[in-house]
Amino acid sequence: MVIGACGQVGTELVLELRKKFGAEKVIATDIRQPENEELKYSGDFFELDVLNKDALYQLVKSQNIDTVYNMAALLSATAEKNPEFGWKLNMEGLFNVLDLAREKHIAKTFWPSSIAVFGPTTPKSETPQDCVMDPATVYGISKLAGERWCEYYHKRWNVDVRSIRYPGLISYKTAPGGGTTDYAVEIFHKAILEGKYISFLKENTMLPMLYMPDAIKATIEITHCEAELVKVRSSYNLAGFSFTPAQLGAEIAKEMPAFTLDYAPDFRQQIAESWPGSIDDSAARKDWNWHNDYSLNDMVKDMLLNLKKAYSIA
Ligand SMILES: NC(=O)c1ccc[n+]([C@@H]2O[C@H](COP(=O)([O-])OP(=O)(O)OC[C@H]3O[C@@H](n4cnc5c(N)ncnc54)[C@H](O)[C@@H]3O)[C@@H](O)[C@H]2O)c1
Repeated sequence: MVIGACGQVGTELVLELRKKFGAEKVIATDIRQPENEELKYSGDFFELDVLNKDALYQLVKSQNIDTVYNMAALLSATAEKNPEFGWKLNMEGLFNVLDLAREKHIAKTFWPSSIAVFGPTTPKSETPQDCVMDPATVYGISKLAGERWCEYYHKRWNVDVRSIRYPGLISYKTAPGGGTTDYAVEIFHKAILEGKYISFLKENTMLPMLYMPDAIKATIEITHCEAELVKVRSSYNLAGFSFTPAQLGAEIAKEMPAFTLDYAPDFRQQIAESWPGSIDDSAARKDWNWHNDYSLNDMVKDMLLNLKKAYSIA
């Protein structure tokens, strides 16, 4: 079962899980109806609020669910606008699923953390798996608390929970849901439709990023590998590549020479400045054999190709 299946990650996760394990084995759920046509027609969908513990329990039982991917959350920029609800959704949603696992109604669960767990005094470059973590946003605080609870549930009650600290995720199938790295998706749409983009982050703001096919691959791999391989039960660092808005703009301009990029930083600049520029993901590489397939250049080419198709531009 995927909770939050209509989001940027959930949509592609459901489609890939259905491809891998069969459509009848994967239940998509969200608080809202799916807009993505492929998601809508590829298998079962149920409306579910992760905060409704009884409804969650009923669905898990009636559908005989063994694994839950819990993607429902308020993201960094959105949660800053509504901190109380950001905390409520991100924490209570996690507890509701962890408790199902603790009570043995499900066998295992995946829950994503984020690079937002790091903060201003965290080492900025090649940020280690274990280091100072002083998140500056309510989103980051909820993810760091969530990580500690995941580890606690594992140690105390042997809950099989697995987690990755996603960096910024870049994709073309579903729009991003209000994060600080959303510029790295919007820029492609604007490049194709208008030939120009105004970035809400400053030109030299370096952030770690990952292309969605790699994020989905990692999510499924860590969830389905042997339990003994998962040595970190809080959350694994994970990385693909790092770039600044200026570097991404230059890559796009290689494919679209007329593309122009300007900058008008807003409140998200401050959030971005509290995050690492690059991530050391050697623990994930060693423990469960993680490796990314896409480089920055591969990602840019693939994004432009697929978005041009989607907009019916040759
Ligand atoms: N996208 C990124 O760049 C990124 C980076 C780091 C971590 N993450 C994490 O990955 C997970 C998925 O992120 P995303 O980008 O797909 O987010 P998103 O905002 O695109 O999707 C979240 C989905 O959850 C649903 N939802 C909201 N409230 C719900 C509720 N009460 N019950 C059930 N569903 C509810 C929303 O309708 C939405 O479809 C989140 O935990 C997020 O923190 C994402």
